[in-house]
Amino acid sequence: MCGIVAYIGKSDATPILLDGLRRLEYRGYDSAGVAIINDGGLVVRKCVGRISNLSELIQRDPPHGSVGICHTRWATHGGVTDENAHPHFDQSGKLALVHNGVIENYQTLRDELIREGHTFKSQTDTEVLAHLVGKHYDAAKGEPSKARLIDALRAALKQVIGTYGIAMIHSDLPDFIVGARRGSPLVLGIGKGENFLASDVSAIVAHTRDAVYLNDYDIACIDRENFEITSLLGGRSGYEVSKVEFSEKDVDKGEFPHYMLKEIFEQPETVRDAMRGRLSLEEATAKLGGLEMTAAELRGIERIVLSGCGTAFHAAMIGEYLLETLAHIPTECEFASEFRYRNMPMTKDTLVFVISQSGETADTLAALRESQRKGHRTLGICNNVASTIARESDGGVYMHAGPEIGVAATKSFTSQLVILTLISLLLGRIRHQSTSEGIRVIEELEELPEKLRTILKLNDQIRDVAHKYSDAKAMMFLGRQFNFPVAMEGALKMKEISYIHAAGHPSAELKHGVIALITPELPSVFIAPEDSVFDKNISNIEEVKARKGPVIAIGTEGCTQLEKVADDVIYIPKCADYLSPILTVVPLQLLAYHLAVKLGCDVDKPRNLAKSVTVE
Ligand code: F6R
Repeated sequence: MCGIVAYIGKSDATPILLDGLRRLEYRGYDSAGVAIINDGGLVVRKCVGRISNLSELIQRDPPHGSVGICHTRWATHGGVTDENAHPHFDQSGKLALVHNGVIENYQTLRDELIREGHTFKSQTDTEVLAHLVGKHYDAAKGEPSKARLIDALRAALKQVIGTYGIAMIHSDLPDFIVGARRGSPLVLGIGKGENFLASDVSAIVAHTRDAVYLNDYDIACIDRENFEITSLLGGRSGYEVSKVEFSEKDVDKGEFPHYMLKEIFEQPETVRDAMRGRLSLEEATAKLGGLEMTAAELRGIERIVLSGCGTAFHAAMIGEYLLETLAHIPTECEFASEFRYRNMPMTKDTLVFVISQSGETADTLAALRESQRKGHRTLGICNNVASTIARESDGGVYMHAGPEIGVAATKSFTSQLVILTLISLLLGRIRHQSTSEGIRVIEELEELPEKLRTILKLNDQIRDVAHKYSDAKAMMFLGRQFNFPVAMEGALKMKEISYIHAAGHPSAELKHGVIALITPELPSVFIAPEDSVFDKNISNIEEVKARKGPVIAIGTEGCTQLEKVADDVIYIPKCADYLSPILTVVPLQLLAYHLAVKLGCDVDKPRNLAKSVTVE
């Protein structure tokens, strides 16, 4: 939520900042702004709307200078207005600050500052922080200096309750940018004669692949040649320079019109990458060193809890079926947002997995911390290797899916499912599963990329089906067993990018109430591959058809029964029941995509959403 970029170097800062901001637009796109140090003063441009609006504003009167900060916003405190767009200034107007996070005690601080004579231009929590830093800076005696600004920031941050990733500049100090983080990500990019701060490396990867992922309480000060990292808690802070694994090309759309479509089409490779080097045919098992658990510890697991939000939660739901089927371990899944308020009774041999593409989701991070607080080993399944969840978890498995930029999660979901299958295989094999059963799972897994390629060839057919139903005002998604969570995921994709109301249910639940909604105007999507519950699904389809409801079915190639009952059938290759969600979800992703495009929706940046939800 919200993206920030800061640049100090020898080049004109504005185009570099705007380019970085475009790469962070997935984090929020309500409004955007930039502040540049120019001729001893600060020049600011900000406006509501997308980065393209800011870009147009800037073109009319471009600010020049080689030091600047910028921001793309997902509104939390205060409406979407020009005044609430970042950067925000202190009382003197000499300090500009951009912020990702939430200052929870901003109202108390604001009231206090107003009593002291401060006046505010916006309703944001961020402006309060800018005033607070400015107040401490102005109160300090002496010449303007880096130390004075950092001390002022320290004093302000000590008064603040909440989360922040910030960058700030001061016109008295035209050769420094100061950043800090607590709870919101911030990365320092090291260039040659130039340095950067950003919420995410994708904003700076065009300029450098050397990065320092800052830790909570770090304060970073950058100039053109150097950087310094200290801790809010005192002293210097330890850091490591990492090489960014991906390049600028990986964060481009390439030949695709949208990131979402590109990411859907990447799935044969990302699914392969999720299992690469992790399967041993010889031992008929999976090797997951990142779990950092001995065989004895793995054998001692009595129960598993899986947690995540949104799409990651749907993966957790499928994980529950996978772990119970392949490993015979009692498993439960819980929304991360509920986990810490629920106080789930858990025995000491309960293992917890938190699942998060971004690794920054505030609710999932809170679930991780709560689980650790209670003494449970808590592992992460993350895509972003430098993320807070990846770093704070006691071990885990990376997805290696590459950057996912489309706001709707697609490839991360199928990677999560592969990883949950690997974990289930590993745990099954050290318990009851035979060698031949293990080999069968591996063979099935290895066939997935080719089967995904086959499904992607149906893109045109799926587009036609989507267009046929583009007048629908609502849609139902139904599935059983492994494919019940896929129904929920299909409905989520449809809702978030096409704004068509959709709901996912277990097929059998229809007759317990939902069937009341069935009319000729309400299409139902049945996920009905030829599995152990196929016949039951057919009966449920018949129930819908008897009430004149149109049916789109996802079925297994070669199955002739579906054609007799459904209006449209999309066929996927045959595979084991437990792996079918990795295949059945792809037509649903494409269905939502094509319907949203047909309706003229902004697929990669749906309204009100942001990719990385770093507020609770
Ligand atoms: C849906 C979607 C969201 C995310 C959720 C969790 O398409 O993208 O529901 O799945 O916000 O995000 P991560 O996985 O980053 O924790």
